[in-house]
Amino acid sequence: MQLNRFLARAGVASRRRCADLISAGAVRVNGAPASGPGDRIDPVRDRVELEGRGRVALPEGFEYVLLHKRRDTLVTSRDERGRTTVYEGLELRPGTVAVGRLDRDTTGALLLTDDGDLAYRLTHPRYGIEKRYVAVLRGSPDDGALRRLRQGLVLEDGPTAPAGARLLGHTGEGRGRIELVLTEGRKHQVKRMCMAVGHKVTSLRRQSFAGLALGDLRAGQWRRLRPAEAARLRRLVGLGPER
Ligand code: URA
Repeated sequence: MQLNRFLARAGVASRRRCADLISAGAVRVNGAPASGPGDRIDPVRDRVELEGRGRVALPEGFEYVLLHKRRDTLVTSRDERGRTTVYEGLELRPGTVAVGRLDRDTTGALLLTDDGDLAYRLTHPRYGIEKRYVAVLRGSPDDGALRRLRQGLVLEDGPTAPAGARLLGHTGEGRGRIELVLTEGRKHQVKRMCMAVGHKVTSLRRQSFAGLALGDLRAGQWRRLRPAEAARLRRLVGLGPER
């Protein structure tokens, strides 16, 4: 992990201010003065000290972040073609990753955590975690189409589970806006389900994931979960309190 990043995550100051502290010689790594903000350190094994403060460490416990994913960002740690990923601009620990995926053109609620047990259970179909989407469709779905979405339909990878589906309204161009509530998380599932009832999805947003709603978060913004929110998630999938 880069030294200035580590210091920022440990709550010392902003990344830029941490770079200044390093340049000013206020930071030592394993007893030797750090040479620059880009020095790479092992956050667990290396001993990082700040003048006047002593040893600096990352906060204990797991990290939980809710991001309002922007359009045109990829849920991947690195893209060979250099496209923007959801991790850019986030100050995360090295082990913190997205729970599940959203397509590049999908916006909305994305949880990131280094709590591996929780992430595993939240994405495992057995736990039936609720994902709430708002989709804008080409054309307007009739009652029959909504009923099929609700009851389940057959996709190439098998039948879908019963879902919530309701018409919210229409856009100016006569496109239907629907809410879909799924308890599965298959690849491109919303788009494929809508296509199966004759409607292409023209825009897709995930309003909430496992009960975590976007609330006031604007696209591109993120926040850390409150301890009570993280505890609720763990309870939801049968995990006890964090160690
Ligand atoms: N379903 C989709 O089709 N795309 C997503 O990004 C999420 C659910």
